[in-house]
Amino acid sequence: MNKDFLSIAELTKDEVLGLLSLADTLKVQKETRPLAGKTVAMIFQKPSLRTRVSFEVGVVQLGGHAIFLTDEGVGLGVRESAADVANVLSRFNDAIVARVFDHQLLLDLAKHATVPVINALSDLSHPCQILADLYTLRQHGKLRDHVKVAYVGDGNNIVNSWLELASILPIHLTLAVPFGYEPDREIFQRAQDAKVSRIEIIRDPKNAVNKADVVYTDTWTSMGQEKEKTKRIFDFWEYQVNAALLRHAKKDVIVMHCLPAHRGEEITNEALDGPQSVVNDQAENRLHIQKAIMATLIGKRT
Ligand code: CP
Ligand code: NVA
Repeated sequence: MNKDFLSIAELTKDEVLGLLSLADTLKVQKETRPLAGKTVAMIFQKPSLRTRVSFEVGVVQLGGHAIFLTDEGVGLGVRESAADVANVLSRFNDAIVARVFDHQLLLDLAKHATVPVINALSDLSHPCQILADLYTLRQHGKLRDHVKVAYVGDGNNIVNSWLELASILPIHLTLAVPFGYEPDREIFQRAQDAKVSRIEIIRDPKNAVNKADVVYTDTWTSMGQEKEKTKRIFDFWEYQVNAALLRHAKKDVIVMHCLPAHRGEEITNEALDGPQSVVNDQAENRLHIQKAIMATLIGKRT
């Protein structure tokens, strides 16, 4: 792996599979302490439950200490530049975990930090989530070539990271997104050009989930888009994951959502809480995969 982990596009297929194996190992070898004596600074510009807790618990389990910094305290890019924050945090810490609005802030942090920077979600991508999702696919016996993953909803940071994964591992990725809500154009094009996976945008959710092995959705209104919420609910109303939609998928389909969910909007209670749902495994797997990422990036710097 490179110094930083900012996007799945930076990984090779072997590195992705290596992280899954290391996650398995760390899950059972609870006495492993590759972060002993190390500290990780965590800057969050947005709210978080899963990411914050899984990183903090992960650091502790690996023998290190995490320092949670709210953006009100740090003022990343406002009180002082990302470069200055990166330089200073690098003097005290062994890694920086950052959740930001503008992805450029992550690039700036990584450029100036002498320690690894890990993307804990930006407006552009959420690589830790999608690696945890991949780990969840494998846990449920779905990690096979050309597995059909149907994503229904907004072409957001989650979709961009799925597209980056599809540039490395062969999957059949069908995106049911309304006009105007497509994923990042360059990331989509790069995924198409990689010719590793079959990738389609299909406007009709029923066609998109037809015979799908996995149906995935995420909020229609991501953090930072709250002012657009009313318009988005109107634009996305045909893109809800519910029991009727799931009948078009394979019988043994699994239902995925990175959470937090907006019950009654992008997904119904029935779908989220039903027997096909693996959403809590996805949440737990954030811990295992992030421990593998940190052990690889920080642990090797001993
Ligand atoms: N899935 C996820 O990243 O959740 P949080 O926003 O709660 O961290
Ligand atoms: N797309 C969502 C993901 C939350 C984990 C957001 O950015 O708010």
